[in-house]
Amino acid sequence: MHESICYLNGHLGPLSQAKVSVLDRGFIFGDGIYEVVPVFDGIAFRLPEHLRRLQRSLDAVKIANPFAFERWTSMVQDLIKTNRGGDQTIYIQITRGIAPRSHAVAEDVEPTVFLMSSPLRVVAETEAIEVVTTNDIRWQRCDIKSTSLLANVMSRELAASVGSHEAIFLRGGIVTEGAASNVFISIDGTIKTPPLSSWILPGVTRDLIVELMNGADHCVQETTVSEQELRRADEVWVTSSGSELVPVIRIDDEPVGNGQIGPVFRHVQRVYRDYKEKFTAQRSDATGNAIVGRLAESE
Ligand code: PDD
Repeated sequence: MHESICYLNGHLGPLSQAKVSVLDRGFIFGDGIYEVVPVFDGIAFRLPEHLRRLQRSLDAVKIANPFAFERWTSMVQDLIKTNRGGDQTIYIQITRGIAPRSHAVAEDVEPTVFLMSSPLRVVAETEAIEVVTTNDIRWQRCDIKSTSLLANVMSRELAASVGSHEAIFLRGGIVTEGAASNVFISIDGTIKTPPLSSWILPGVTRDLIVELMNGADHCVQETTVSEQELRRADEVWVTSSGSELVPVIRIDDEPVGNGQIGPVFRHVQRVYRDYKEKFTAQRSDATGNAIVGRLAESE
C-alpha cells in the first residue's frame, strides 16, 4: 500500500517517520487546535469554511496563524495530490510549539504545523448507528476545535463498551452534540438542531445542512433540544466531516421512532448528496487544468 505522506513544519515526508519534540505543548498540555477536511474525488469539500473555523479556533486560544488563507489552500491541495487524490481526509493540527514546560505561555514560541492524509470511508446509504447518551462533562468552550479531547475520547469509549458508535452529550437535560458529531432530530414534522453556542462545535456539515434545508423545502429550527424530545423524536441523525450524515436508529437501547431509517433523513440525505455531486463536478471542471499543470511540474 502507498505510504501516507504528511507535512510537518515545512517538510513533506512519510507519516511513519514524522516526529515532534516531547516538549511540544501539544503533547504536554493538549495546547493546540485542529481541523478535519473531507476530500471527495480529489476535491477538498468546504475548505474555506474549515479554514475560517481554523482561524476562529486560533484566535480563541491566541495562537498566531502561521499562514495566509491562500497558502493554506495550496498546502491542502498539494497534500491531497501527493496522496493521490480520490477520497481522503486532511487532518490539520497547529500547536503552540516547543517550550520548557510551564503553563504560562512563553514569548517567541513557533507554532508546530502538522497535516496528514487519512483514508475516508464513505458511509453507505443503508448504514445506521446506535448511540448512548452521557453527561456532558466537557468544558465551557466546546466551540473551539481543541486537541484536548479527553472527555470526547472517554465518551466514545463508553459508547464502544456497549457496542454503540457514538455518544450524545446531555447538559442539564439539554442535548448539546455528539462526541465527534452534531445532532439533528425530526419531531412532529419539524427538523431541529441545537443552536450555535459555546457548548457545541459549529460543525461545517451541520451548517451546510441548515443552509441547504433552509434553501429547500424543509427549514431547520436551530433551537434547544431537550432530552425528552431526543427520546420522543421520530428520527435522529448525526453529522460530521468524516461520516457526513448518519441515521441513529437506537438510543440507549431503545428504538428511535420505528427503529428504521426514516423518510425525513432520506430526504435530507438526498439534498446533501445532490449538493455534493454538483460541488465536486464544478470544482473538478474549474480546477482540472491547474491541478494537472502543477502535478506535471512536480514530477
Ligand atoms: N469531529 N462536534 C464535535 C465535538 C466534533 O468533534 C465534530 C467533528 C463535529 C462535526 O463537525 P464537522 O461537521 O465540522 O466535522 C461536531 C471531527 C470529524 C473529528 O474530530 O475527527
